[in-house]
Amino acid sequence: MLKFIFLSLLSITSLLASKNFAPSEDCKSCHPLIYKEFSESMHANSTPQKDPIHGSVWAKHPQNLEFKKYGCGKCHTPTAEKDSMPKADSPKHQEGISCAYCHRIKSIELHAKSNTNITTSTEKNYFGTLEDHITSPYHGIVSEGNEHFKNGNVCIGCHSHKMNKHKLNVCSTNIDNEMDGANCVSCHMPKVKGSVSNFKDRKEHSFHGFAGSHSNQDMLTKYVDISLLRQINDFIVNIDNRTSHALLLHPLRTAVLKVSVTRAGKTTKLKDEIFVRVIGHNGKPAMPWTASTTLKNTMIQANEKRSIKYDYKLQSGDKVDIVLGWFLVNPKALKTLNLEDNEVATKFIEFKKESFTF
Ligand code: HEC
Ligand code: HEC
Ligand code: HEC
Ligand code: HEC
Ligand code: HEC
Repeated sequence: MLKFIFLSLLSITSLLASKNFAPSEDCKSCHPLIYKEFSESMHANSTPQKDPIHGSVWAKHPQNLEFKKYGCGKCHTPTAEKDSMPKADSPKHQEGISCAYCHRIKSIELHAKSNTNITTSTEKNYFGTLEDHITSPYHGIVSEGNEHFKNGNVCIGCHSHKMNKHKLNVCSTNIDNEMDGANCVSCHMPKVKGSVSNFKDRKEHSFHGFAGSHSNQDMLTKYVDISLLRQINDFIVNIDNRTSHALLLHPLRTAVLKVSVTRAGKTTKLKDEIFVRVIGHNGKPAMPWTASTTLKNTMIQANEKRSIKYDYKLQSGDKVDIVLGWFLVNPKALKTLNLEDNEVATKFIEFKKESFTF
C-alpha cells in the first residue's frame, strides 16, 4: 500500500514537471548553420556521457555513489526527467541544453544556491531578437517582452553562480549581479557569416558554437591584451583582462603564462606563471561538494590588469615570445579524476600569443 502511494506520488510529480521540448534535431533542416555550430558546442555535449570532464567529476559525486539523483541535470540536462539518475539511453537526457529549452526561457528566479530558469509552457513558440523576422512554418516567434533576451543575459539562470552546502561559491560569473548591463551574448555569440535559416537569405547570424574555454577561443582573444614593458634590469608583462568576469571561472582550470627569450639563436625559457583558484577544506584541496573555502586565488579577475615581473635583462636583438593559455583540468587533479589519458583534459590550450623584438 505504502509502496503504491509512493509510486503514484512519484508519477504525479514527474507528470507535473514534465514539459515537452522539441528535439534540437528538428531545427536542423531550416537552421543548418546554427544547428551545426550548436551541435559542436559544450551545450550540446554537456552530459556525463558526452563530456568526459563532467563525467569524471560526476563519477566521484556522492549523489552518484549513493545512487540518488542527478542534481547536475538542473543545468547540464534541463529537459531530462528530474529526480532520477541520468538515463544514458534517454534522448531527453542526451539532448543536453537544447535549442528549444534556451529559446523558451521566459524568466529567471534569483536564488542563493543557484538561479532557476522558468520556461514557457507553450511548445514551439520561441523567443528571439531579430528585429524584422519572417514567419516560420514550424513555430511561433515571440520577439517582445523578454528582458533577458533583450539584454543578452538569458544565460544567468545557469551561469550566475553555484553555491555548495558549505556556502562556498564553487563557480561564479555573477554572484552579486555585478554583471547587470554586461552582455554575455555580445562576446560569446558574436555575429558570423551565413544565413539564420534557409528561408530568407541573410548575411549573418549569431554564433551558436558558444566561444569559450573548450573551443573557438580566437573569437575572444580581443578582450585580453598582452603588453611588455622593458626596464633597465628586468621586464614586466602586463595582462589586461577587459572581460566582465575572471579570465577562467571553473575551479578545475589552470591558466599559464609562458615566456621565453631568444638571443643569438638560443632560446631560454623563463619560469611559468600560474593562475588558479583552488578550493578546499582543512587546508587541503577538495572536491567541489566538500570544499568549504578558497585556499588560493591567483586567477586574473574581471577588468584586472595584472603585471608580472621577470628578473631578466633584455638586450637589443632579443626576441620575447609570450603565450597565455590553459589546461581545462588542473594537472594536479588529473590522477584523482582518472583523466590522465584524456586528450581534452591534458592538452595545453593556447589562447593568445605575442612576440616582441628589441
Ligand atoms: C547551477 C547550474 C549548474 C549545476 C547545478 C551544475 N553545473 Fe556543472 N557547470 C555549469 C556551468 C554553467 C558550467 C560551465 C562553467 C565554465 O565553463 O566555467 C559547468 C561546468 C562543469 C564542469 C566543467 C566541464 C568541462 O568540460 O570542463 C564540470 C566538471 C561540472 N560542471 C560538474 C558538475 C557536476 C558534477 C554537477 C552536479 C553535481 C554540476 N556540475 C552541476 C552549471 C552547473
Ligand atoms: C520549417 C522550417 C523551420 C524549422 C523546422 C525551425 N525553424 Fe526556426 N525559423 C524559421 C524561419 C523561416 C525563421 C525566420 C527567419 C528570418 O526571419 O530570417 C525562424 C526563426 C527562428 C528564431 C528567431 C526568432 C527571432 O525573431 O529572433 C528562433 C529562435 C528559432 N527560429 C528557433 C527554432 C528552433 C529552436 C527550432 C527547432 C526546435 C526551429 N527554429 C525550427 C524556420 C524554421
Ligand atoms: C540550462 C543552463 C544553461 C544556460 C541557459 C546557458 N548555459 Fe552555457 N553552459 C551550461 C553548462 C552546464 C555548461 C558546461 C557544459 C560542459 O562543459 O559540460 C555551459 C558552458 C558554456 C560555455 C563554455 C564553453 C566552453 O568552451 O567551455 C560558454 C561560453 C557558455 N556556456 C555560454 C553561455 C551563454 C552565452 C549563454 C546564454 C546565451 C548560456 N551559456 C546559457 C549551461 C547553460
Ligand atoms: C567582454 C567580453 C565578455 C563578456 C561580456 C562575457 N564574457 Fe565570458 N569570457 C570572455 C573571455 C575573454 C573568456 C576567456 C576565454 C575563453 O574562455 O575562451 C570567457 C570565458 C567564459 C567561460 C569559460 C570559463 C571557464 O572557466 O571555462 C564561460 C562559461 C563564460 N565566459 C560565460 C560568460 C557569461 C555567462 C557571461 C555573461 C554573464 C559572460 N561570459 C560575459 C569574454 C566575455
Ligand atoms: C544557450 C542558449 C541557446 C541555445 C542552446 C540556442 N540558442 Fe538560439 N539564440 C540564443 C540567443 C541568446 C539568441 C539571440 C542572439 C542575439 O541577440 O544576438 C539566439 C538567436 C537565435 C536565432 C535568431 C537569429 C540570430 O542569429 O540571432 C535563431 C534562429 C536561433 N537562435 C535558433 C537556434 C537553434 C536552431 C538552436 C539549436 C540548434 C539554438 N538557437 C540554440 C540562445 C540559444
